[in-house]
Amino acid sequence: MSVQGEARVMTTHRLLEMKQKGEKIAMITAYDYTFAKIVDEAGVDIILVGDSAANVMAGHETTIPITIDQMIYHAQSVMRAVKNPLVVVDMPFGTYQGNSKEAVFSAIRIMKESEADAVKVEGGSEVMESITRILSTGIPVMGHLGLTPQSIHKFGTYAVRAKEQAEADKLVEDAVALEKAGCFAIVLEKIPAALGKKVAEMLSIPVIGIGAGRYVDGQVLVMHDMLGLNNNFSPRFLRRYANLHDESLKAFKSYVKDVKECDFPNNSEQY
Ligand code: KIV
Repeated sequence: MSVQGEARVMTTHRLLEMKQKGEKIAMITAYDYTFAKIVDEAGVDIILVGDSAANVMAGHETTIPITIDQMIYHAQSVMRAVKNPLVVVDMPFGTYQGNSKEAVFSAIRIMKESEADAVKVEGGSEVMESITRILSTGIPVMGHLGLTPQSIHKFGTYAVRAKEQAEADKLVEDAVALEKAGCFAIVLEKIPAALGKKVAEMLSIPVIGIGAGRYVDGQVLVMHDMLGLNNNFSPRFLRRYANLHDESLKAFKSYVKDVKECDFPNNSEQY
């Protein structure tokens, strides 16, 4: 359910239909009410309340520090805004890797307290037991393979993943296993386009890419990156659709100048 208890237009079933019909899926991250409302208005299919909130909202180097309470807070803010898109919430690091019982408890907390539609979990065979148990409760799960940022300390770098055959084979195996387990979609992050194409062709569930090339079933970008709010992050896969860093800076500077020079407020801006 969404704003005023109305059923939302986008469902996991509809996403499957989109894949079958070859309609591309547009997904974007959002973490707050105001931007989620704009994203909804723009016709996005899926909003991801990503744990990238740890980076873009809180300024952490990695996604590891964000807590389940913080994720629920962001998800609740987004849920107050949306009418149409499906809302997926990232399960934060440490809430599902330890054991599958804890994973179910965490997923249920996220769903009950945020009223979102689904959760996203990073990893394949290593976390399959947790994914299976979450799915058994009726909670839809989106998988996430390739560059999984919660494993950054294992990878040691944010470079492209699965360029070597062994890692590519494991990724394909994991993708097939996630579909078999019952995941409704999978995110593939920062892998060769040919591998993204292969996985999208093998699976009947939607495959959403971020740096996984153009042949997958949909794309996802982090809002702050595509809006150009953060101009010191420029991976090859990122297309900037605005330069809100420079626009915002200009606006803030003008405001400071106007206040200092007693130009704001003027006669018509006071009571
Ligand atoms: O947290 C996030 O924003 C994500 C996307 C990069 C897919 O997981």
